[in-house]
Amino acid sequence: MRRIGMLTSGGDCQALNAAMRGVVKTLSYSGENVEIYGFLEGYKGLIYGNFQMLTGKDFSGILTKGGTILGTSRTPFKTIQEPDENGLNKVEAMKQNYYKLKLDCLVILGGNGTHKTANLLRQEGLNIVTLPKTIDNDLWGTDMTFGFQSAVDIATNAIDYIHTTAASHGRVFIVEVMGHKVGWLTLNAGMAGGADIILIPEIPYDIDKVVAKIEERDKRGSRFTIIAVAEGAISKQDAKLSKKEYRKKLEKMTHPSVSYEIAAAIQEKTGREVRVTVPGHMQRGGSPCPYDRVFASRLGSEAGKLILDGQYGFMVGYKNREIVRVPLEDVAGKLKYLDPDATIVQEAKLLGISFGD
Ligand code: F6P
Repeated sequence: MRRIGMLTSGGDCQALNAAMRGVVKTLSYSGENVEIYGFLEGYKGLIYGNFQMLTGKDFSGILTKGGTILGTSRTPFKTIQEPDENGLNKVEAMKQNYYKLKLDCLVILGGNGTHKTANLLRQEGLNIVTLPKTIDNDLWGTDMTFGFQSAVDIATNAIDYIHTTAASHGRVFIVEVMGHKVGWLTLNAGMAGGADIILIPEIPYDIDKVVAKIEERDKRGSRFTIIAVAEGAISKQDAKLSKKEYRKKLEKMTHPSVSYEIAAAIQEKTGREVRVTVPGHMQRGGSPCPYDRVFASRLGSEAGKLILDGQYGFMVGYKNREIVRVPLEDVAGKLKYLDPDATIVQEAKLLGISFGD
C-alpha cells in the first residue's frame, strides 16, 4: 500500500488536473494499491490537516478541466517559517500531518514560491516529488512549464481580436500580458499575434524608441500599431532605480498598471489615440490546450514512475525535448529569465519587431 499526498499551490493554471490525473493513472495501472490524500487549497490544507481521500474515479474526466480540483492558495515562502496568527509553527504542522497520515510521499504542483517550500520540506526529511506549473514559464530547471502554452493561446487570441479593431480605427493598441518578472508569455503571444512592439521586463524600454517605431509604421502607411506589454515591463530609467526605489514609485503611480503609463506617454508624444486591453486572469482560465494536456500527462506519468521507483526529492522537468528528473535543490529559489540575446529575440528583431531598446 502506498499513501500519497497531493496538493496544488500558488496561482492556478491550465492542466493542473491533467497532471494529477497522469500521476494517479500511472500509479493505478502499475497494479499497486494506492491511497490518495488530496490536501485542499495548497499548503494551507497540509498545515491545517484539511484533506480529502480520493480514488481513481475522482481523477477521471478531468483531463480537459481547467483550474484545480483541489483548490489552491498562495502561501508565501517568506513567512512560512513564521508562526500563524494562533502561534502555530506551520512547517512543524505540515510535517506532523504528513507523519500522522503515514504518507510515503507528497506530490506538489506549483511554481517558484511553491518549489521553495517544497525544497524546505525535503530538507526537513519529507519525500517530495514536484511538477512544474505556471503560465509564466519562469521555473528554473525546465524548458517548459504546463499552463504556458494554453496561456500563449489565450493571449494570442486577445491580440488577434484587437488587431481587427485597431486596424479599422487606425489606433495604437496596448495588450497587457501576464508576467511581472519574466517576458516568456508576452514574447510568444506577441510574436504569434503579430505585435509590432514587445516590451518585457528583461529588456528595459526607452519610450522614445517605442514612439519612433510607431512613427516608422505611420510612414510606411500602417495606420495602426499593436504593442504587447508584459505586466512587469520597465523603462530604462526605472531599471536604474534600486528595488526599493522602484517599489516606492509603483506605490505612487496613479495609473492602474505600467501599460496605462506607456499609453499616456505615447498619447502625449504623438497625439495618437491609444487604447489598453488587459485580458488578465483569463490567461490562466479555461481548458488546457491539447499541447498542455499531452505535456502535463507526460510529466504526471513520470512523477508516478518516480514514486514507484522510490525516487524522491525531484521536480519532473523538460530539457531538450526529453522529460527529465531535476533535483529540487537545483530548482528552488531560481527564476528562469529570458535572455535578451536569445536567438528568438534576435529573430523577432529581424522580423521588424521593436523591443523599445
Ligand atoms: O504566477 C502566475 C501569474 O498569473 C502571473 O503571471 C501574474 O503576475 C500573477 O500570477 C497574478 O497573481 P494573482 O492571481 O495572485 O493576482
